[in-house]
Amino acid sequence: IKALRTKTMGQKLKIIDSTVSTQEEAKLLAEEDAPEGTLVIAEEQTGGKGRMGRKWYSPKGKGIWMSLVLRPKQPMHFMPQMTLMTGVAVCRAVRRTTGVMAGLKWPNDLLVNGRKISGILLESAAEDEYVRYCIAGIGISVNLDPQDYPQALTDVATSLKIEAGEEVDRVALIAAVLEEFEVLYALYQQEGFGPIASLWEALSVTLGKSVTVNTARGAVIGTAEKLDLSGALLVTTGEGQHESIFSGDVELKR
Ligand code: BTN
Repeated sequence: IKALRTKTMGQKLKIIDSTVSTQEEAKLLAEEDAPEGTLVIAEEQTGGKGRMGRKWYSPKGKGIWMSLVLRPKQPMHFMPQMTLMTGVAVCRAVRRTTGVMAGLKWPNDLLVNGRKISGILLESAAEDEYVRYCIAGIGISVNLDPQDYPQALTDVATSLKIEAGEEVDRVALIAAVLEEFEVLYALYQQEGFGPIASLWEALSVTLGKSVTVNTARGAVIGTAEKLDLSGALLVTTGEGQHESIFSGDVELKR
């Protein structure tokens, strides 16, 4: 990648024309001892994966479909924080390179005017409760036109091209994501989650809003207050109860 100003992130790079999922490609490389920062990018994914077993639509040449190999020396329970950190990096990069004022929906969807523009999927392999490696999957809908979306997505998804009104340079955006990620990852390792949580909160479109959070234990309805120091979302319900949500799907009232 031309003009990439990082030390590690993306310095080892595998570009693939078509693959099922860059997550699986990156896992293979991680199993073969690929160093931290190794990046897999695909022009197209035929089986792109989203959170909670969903599919991620990844048409050829229209987006950024990529996975980064990470080797944080951390216990597994820090992974939600890493997920939020990745969201901050992508949000900052999108704003900086395109001017599109995307915001974060907990845990890490990037929204513009209520529609999704990017999603993040972190998967990790453990060894004795510690992270052996982690794969940060980043999908950004860059140059899709309205007619590129299947019917089911037209109301819920958008792209940078649609929002910016012009084609966006994918290479420049990839470089910006990697640069933001590297800076935040170093900050996170030096200072912990506190500064990342503040940055996340400042970019959030979830906080202060009425939300319904669908969790494995049922729906929680209330106001999203803030992040706690583990990265969980604190929701105050109508009965004034405070609930920490560690995993789930947030619906924002429009
Ligand atoms: C979500 O919002 O549910 C997460 C979507 C993550 C999509 C990216 S695209 C690159 C990487 N490869 C995949 O199969 N998924 C992630």
